[in-house]
Parts: sequence; structure tokens; C-alpha cells
Amino acid sequence: MDNEVPQGNVPEQGFETLAIHAGQEPDPTTGAVVPPIYQVSTYKQDGIGGLRGGYEYSRSANPTRTALEECLAAVEAGTRGMAFASGLAAEDTILRTLLRPGDHVVIPNDAYGGTYRLFAKVAAPWGVSFDPVPLGDVAAVRAAMRPETKIVWVETPTNPLLGISDIAALAAVAHEAGALLVVDNTFASSYLQQPLTLGADIVVHSTTKYMGGHSDVVGGALVVRDADLGERLAFNQNSMGAVAGPFDAWLTLRGVKTLGVRMDRHCDNAEKVVEMLTSHRAVKQVLYPGLPDHPGHDVAVKQMRRFGGMVSFRTWSEEDAVRICEATRLFTLGESLGGVESLIEHPGRMTHASAAGSPLEVPADLVRLSVGIENIDDLLADLDRALG
Ligand SMILES: Cc1ncc(COP(=O)(O)O)c(C=O)c1O
Repeated sequence: MDNEVPQGNVPEQGFETLAIHAGQEPDPTTGAVVPPIYQVSTYKQDGIGGLRGGYEYSRSANPTRTALEECLAAVEAGTRGMAFASGLAAEDTILRTLLRPGDHVVIPNDAYGGTYRLFAKVAAPWGVSFDPVPLGDVAAVRAAMRPETKIVWVETPTNPLLGISDIAALAAVAHEAGALLVVDNTFASSYLQQPLTLGADIVVHSTTKYMGGHSDVVGGALVVRDADLGERLAFNQNSMGAVAGPFDAWLTLRGVKTLGVRMDRHCDNAEKVVEMLTSHRAVKQVLYPGLPDHPGHDVAVKQMRRFGGMVSFRTWSEEDAVRICEATRLFTLGESLGGVESLIEHPGRMTHASAAGSPLEVPADLVRLSVGIENIDDLLADLDRALG
């Protein structure tokens, strides 16, 4: 199921080279080949305002975070990256930089539950309205646009239903209406999809997931191409202060180095899991954009390198879904995704419980897998036994 690398702003070096080297010149004082963890809050000034290397206080800038931010910009084919304390901190910075009371946003009708909660419980009481729309339907998005729409917020693939939307087509719809296109690239990662090359204005990541890749750090990122937009967001990153700490930045940077090889193995394993699930009697439906009958398959082929490590499936009842989630041994029952270890969860009762009773409520019979990079035979045996 290999596809071509998305075209557009083709960087001078290959993805894997940028992931290992961008922003990561050997340390000028010691020659250390990996950027050190600058676990420091403040910096000596040589006379007032005499900064060495531009650093004065680590909320504003820290060398380990700078290395990560430059690397993130490079692997997303952007010009400016910003690292945050979490994905939601990054999202909140977009909201508070670009929106004012009275503005309107279009969001996916199957957005990540935390994103929905941010709009419904934080932005809406402040006076920002939003409409959940099926983003796979470009005409529906066009119909939802209003004069006060400032952002079309895209997730593709979506969490947890793995819906696909056409980034280039939605960028055109947003731009025609004078709005910006934000793409949450968490599920695909920069290796599988580069939204800025397809017309998106801002890429947001929960780097907690594939970018970090080892379930050992919570973080978020924004990447943009436009310098002015980058300046506005970076101003608020510092003003609001939800920055990534040095150790978290270092862990994330370490994860990004192996993103390409990890993603290829995640995809290999996910494809085999999908093959097994599609023929299993305990499974009603498999949701995976790599399946030719997935409604977003053709768009996914166009804009993704491969189809990712996330697989969701519907069972025959909520009880079945819960039983399966509690029966696996290698697939660990837990929230989050994108780490080297396989995880299983019940979105309705876990990650997406905050969307219960809303238009974004997920089916109760749904199970979500984050397929890790363990031995595939072990993963298949574990699933087969749990499915019964
Ligand atoms: C698609 C997506 N976006 C954003 C987030 C929020 O990121 P964080 O948990 O790092 O705040 C998540 C978290 O699960 C997510 O899955």
C-alpha cells in the first residue's frame, strides 16, 4: 500500500535526514552530537541586554526547545515551529490568537473529544460559535461557511473513526471565504502527511503521540509557513506561557529522529491487523483508510504516504467491545496512541467520553487500536485470542 511522498514544498534533504539533523548541529562548545538538555531558567547577560545567542529566559526561548522547534518546522515543510506543553495548549494558543467573541469555526463532526471540549466548554462560553460538519463532504463545509467563519479545523485521519478529508479542497474552501485552514496532523504524523504542502495554514500536533513515539512525554506543536502568522502565534506562545520544558523537548526530539522507521513499521503491522480483522466473525466493520472501500480511500491515496498505525473496528455490541478491550494482554488497555507499544481502548467510555450526548458521540460498539511495532505474529495472536 506504499504511495508517493506528498509533493509541494520539496525540502532540499530527505525527510529522514531532516528528522535527524535539522536544528541539531553539534554543540558549539563541546561537539556533543545530540543537543544537550538545557535544564535552565535564565542566562547570564554580558552587560544589560548583552545576550549570548539570544537567550534571556526559558519561557521565551531555550536551546533544547529551539532545536526541537527547528526540527518540527523542517519535517512539516514549514518555516516556523513552536513546541508546547501539550497538544491542547497548542490548540488553545491558536484559538486565543486568531479568534475573538463573535467569530465562528467549522470543526469535524468526529473531532478528538478534547478538541470538541475545548470548543464547547472553553471557546463557546467566551463567545466563539462552532459547527461540527462532516469534513469528508466538501460541499457541506462550503455550506457551513459564514461571513464570521475564521477557521476551518481539520483532523485527517480523525480520532477515532479514521475519517479522511481532502486538505487541498478544504484549503480552497477556507481561503475563498477568507478563513484559515488548521490541520491536526497527530494521527498521520509529519512522515505520512504534510498539510502545509497541500495548502493548510497551520499544522497542530499532539507530539505526545507518533512524533514523540514512546509514551513517555506529553507535548504539542504548531508549524506554519507564513512568517507573520508565525510571529503572532509565537508572541502568544510566550505571552500565554504553555511552553515545552527542556527535558520534554529533548525526549520529543529524540522521538522524531526515528519517526520514519517507526511509522513504516506501524503501517506494516496495522495492514496485517486490518487483514485479520476484516475476516473475523466477531468484527462487524473495520475502519482503516487503506481499505479500498473506505469512503476516504482515494483522498488518502492522494495526500498520505501510507495509511497509518491506527485501526478502529465495530463489534456486534457495546458488551463485546468492552470485553475485547479487557481481554487483550499485549495490547495494553489505555488512553493515548502512537507509541511503540500497542494499545487498545473503548473510545465511548474512555478518550471520547467527553463527547457523550453531543453530535460527536461515538458508537458504543467501537474499539480503537494503536498498533505498535512489536512482532506482528504476537500481536495477531493476542487479538485473535481476545476476539474469541
Ligand atoms: C488528534 C488529537 N489532537 C489533539 C490531542 C490533544 O493532545 P494532548 O493530549 O497532547 O494535549 C489529542 C490527544 O489525544 C489527539 O488525539
